[in-house]
Formats: sequence, C-alpha cells, structure tokens
Amino acid sequence: MKVYIVGAGPGDPDLITVKGLKILKEADVVMYTDSLVSEELVTRANPEAEILRSSAMSLEEMVDIMADRIRRGKKVVRLHTGDPSVYGAIMEQIALLKKEGIHYEIVPGVSSVFAAAAVAGAELTIPELTQTLILTRAEGRTPVPEREKLKDLASHHCTLALFLSATLTKKVVNELQEAGWSENTPIVVVQKATWPEQVIIRTNLRNLDKDMRKHGIHSHAMILAGWSLDPHIHDKDEYRSKLYDKEFTHGFRKGVQA
Ligand SMILES: C[S@@+](CC[C@H](N)C(=O)[O-])C[C@H]1O[C@@H](n2cnc3c(N)ncnc32)[C@H](O)[C@@H]1O
Repeated sequence: MKVYIVGAGPGDPDLITVKGLKILKEADVVMYTDSLVSEELVTRANPEAEILRSSAMSLEEMVDIMADRIRRGKKVVRLHTGDPSVYGAIMEQIALLKKEGIHYEIVPGVSSVFAAAAVAGAELTIPELTQTLILTRAEGRTPVPEREKLKDLASHHCTLALFLSATLTKKVVNELQEAGWSENTPIVVVQKATWPEQVIIRTNLRNLDKDMRKHGIHSHAMILAGWSLDPHIHDKDEYRSKLYDKEFTHGFRKGVQA
C-alpha cells in the first residue's frame, strides 16, 4: 500500500484533477492542510472516510498516523494545496514514510501560479518578449540559496512568479530595482485565486508595496511580475507567436508562400 499525495488545486474545488478526485472519493483516510485546502473539496471524499486536519500536527504526528492507517490496510490520501511539488514540504514526509517502508504516489494539481495567471487573463510567456517563467520566493525567515537571490534571477527580465512573499514586497521592489527593472513594470497580485473572496490588484513596481498595504494583503497571495503582465499586451502585434502565423510552416500546416 502507498500514500497518495494529491494536489488539491488552488482553491476552487472543481480545480482538482479527475484522477485526484477519483482517489479522494476512494480514500478511507484523508489528511489535509486545513488552512489552505477548501472544506468543500473535502466534503467530496467518501462520507465514511476518516478526515484529519494537519495544520496543528507535527511532521512526526502526521507520518505516524499515515503509517498506522496504511498498516491497517486503509487507503490514505494526503491532500496538499495547489501542486504538491511546489513549496509543499512533501519531501520530509516522504523521507519518514520511506523509513517506515511505505511507498507513495504524487498526483499533480493546479498550482496557484497558473490559477493566478488564469484569473488575471494573462499569458506568462509572450513571444519575442519573454519565453521564461521563474517560480521563486523573496527571502524572509526561510533563507534562499546565495546563487538564487531575487536580484540575480530578475536580471533575466523574464516573468517572475513569487510565492510566499506577500509580507516582503519592500524587499521585492528593492531587488527588482537593483536588477534594473523599470518603475513601470506591470505587476499583478492575486490573493486567494479562485476562492470566492479572491482579490486581484493590477499595479506596477513603483506602487506594489503601497498597494499591498492599501488592500491589506499579507498572505495567500501570488505576485506575478514582468512585462507579460502588461494590460495592453493584447493590442501589440509584434508579440504574435509563429505557431499561428500564416507564413509559418510546421508539422500540421503548410505556410502560405509570399
Ligand atoms: C506553502 S505555498 C504552497 C504552494 C502550492 N503548492 C501551489 O502550488 O500553489 C503557499 C503559497 O502559495 C501561494 N498560494 C497558494 N494558494 C494560492 C491562491 N489560491 N492564490 C494565490 N496564491 C496562492 C501563496 O504565495 C502562498 O503564500
């Protein structure tokens, strides 16, 4: 038997994958991060299932419970917010499960970075403008490796998605300025993307910190930064992709010869 580590998606209970929902419905035990996973999603589990909230548990408690239920032959789901592989702290659980001889399977989920882009109506990779998206965080109490300092990552001038950084926007602004970002660089902040209480702020580097305070945003926020977030990007012809260009030939279509 194994533990299923399932991505719950960003909030909207319909944004779990079909596979994740199937496993959730079959589970005998569901352990979930109650501060971040929607209660409505958890109600879709088998009504007979044992439901456990993990926010007040230590790592050892969580793993002890999962291991105990597995040994009793139960199907166990560990439900994580967004996609489990991004800031999910799953590796420490997996390490202890392995010590207990328990296997695991990860079922991916919709990360908040993509939910935030969706509700902002944005494409994060715009042809000729940026073809790179960096997922990172500002350095707070959790240190960031020296070679991954925001200023250095920002030197690529691509799109940045900042997790866990809502209280660190002063630092974000300083580092992006040091990397040469213009004050006018567009930024979209989405708090609780796809939840009923979702908030979207469209701002720029100059006003980011002020706007975060104005809207009282201290947590659960995705900060998307870069010119791909320009609200006028749709009007600019120079950023069309080659994929749908009528003069561009590819495997599925012959281009029109000029
Ligand atoms: C512990 S990390 C978990 C990330 C998660 N694994 C994911 O893929 O989205 C929590 C951070 O993810 C971001 N986050 C998670 N859910 C969010 C949502 N619905 N809207 C905006 N940001 C969210 C915030 O930056 C939050 O501080």
